[in-house]
Amino acid sequence: MAAPSGKIPRHDPPRRFPHRHLLAISDLSRSDIEFLLDRAEAFTPLAEQRVKKLDALKGRTLINLFFEPSTRTQSSFELAGKRLGADVVNMSASSSSVTKGETLIDTAATLNAMSPDLLVVRHGSSGAAELLARKVSCSVINAGDGQHEHPTQALLDALTIRREIGRIEGVRIAICGDVMHSRVARSNALLLTMLGAEVRLVGPPTLLPASSARWGASVHHDMKEGLAGADVVMMLRLQRERMQGGFIPSAREFFWFYGLDEEKLRHAKPGAFVMHPGPMNRGVEIDSAIADDARISLIERQVKMGVALRMAVLVALAEHGANESGE
Ligand code: CP
Repeated sequence: MAAPSGKIPRHDPPRRFPHRHLLAISDLSRSDIEFLLDRAEAFTPLAEQRVKKLDALKGRTLINLFFEPSTRTQSSFELAGKRLGADVVNMSASSSSVTKGETLIDTAATLNAMSPDLLVVRHGSSGAAELLARKVSCSVINAGDGQHEHPTQALLDALTIRREIGRIEGVRIAICGDVMHSRVARSNALLLTMLGAEVRLVGPPTLLPASSARWGASVHHDMKEGLAGADVVMMLRLQRERMQGGFIPSAREFFWFYGLDEEKLRHAKPGAFVMHPGPMNRGVEIDSAIADDARISLIERQVKMGVALRMAVLVALAEHGANESGE
């Protein structure tokens, strides 16, 4: 459905997102997720139009507050906000008063005093987004908090799978590598199992948290076993910046046992798709021949879906806020 310039794509039948914030997939129901995916689907044609501007968030203010580096998430939230007509402010910790000792709470209180409507936050500590949501009067979106959750990444991954395979129910998805340090893995496992996918977590015992047994997924330590018959292989970045101690003997050995190459991919279903949230460590968790093979790699399509999905989230939360204030 092409979005007429300046008009928000219609969502039929009209529904309302019941949450003020988007902090974690664990807060959402299946119908909340389907609502956001359907909404995002309606925004996807916008990327192909010459004029990519709507006015759904005209007059609204979006602040992107990033305490950790980001390429995809920050730029796609910025683009999403701008394409919806919002005023967008980008702040990174390295160029803010955080470098002078200002705390997370004080930074949030300062920004809150400027009356934003939406605050997107990425932080290295689990629970940081939830803490901010209790301190500010606008809607907060978690753009990744420590090892906890990255809900918009899981939503855009689900949108990508649904578009490529046509469904999520019954799809077999192997999430492989550094599950322990991955907020992407946690959010994806929760979301995909909720939507009826068969999820497998694959990695060395040192990189699979004990809590993963509660994520509704099966656990495998061998790639051949974990990938057997998989429709989708989702590789994770080896997050060495979050590792204190020897989780793996060496990157070379990790690639030998867990890096995705053509030989290991042969165990998945013929024509299986490969995903990676990025940024990739080529030659560590994924071979370039796989990552760059446009017939099977969905990596660029994931990034593309990120903008549409984040537009859907911004509109859903802005509508919720407008409803609460009786607009
Ligand atoms: N997938 C993801 O969160 O990427 P960035 O760190 O570049 O935002």
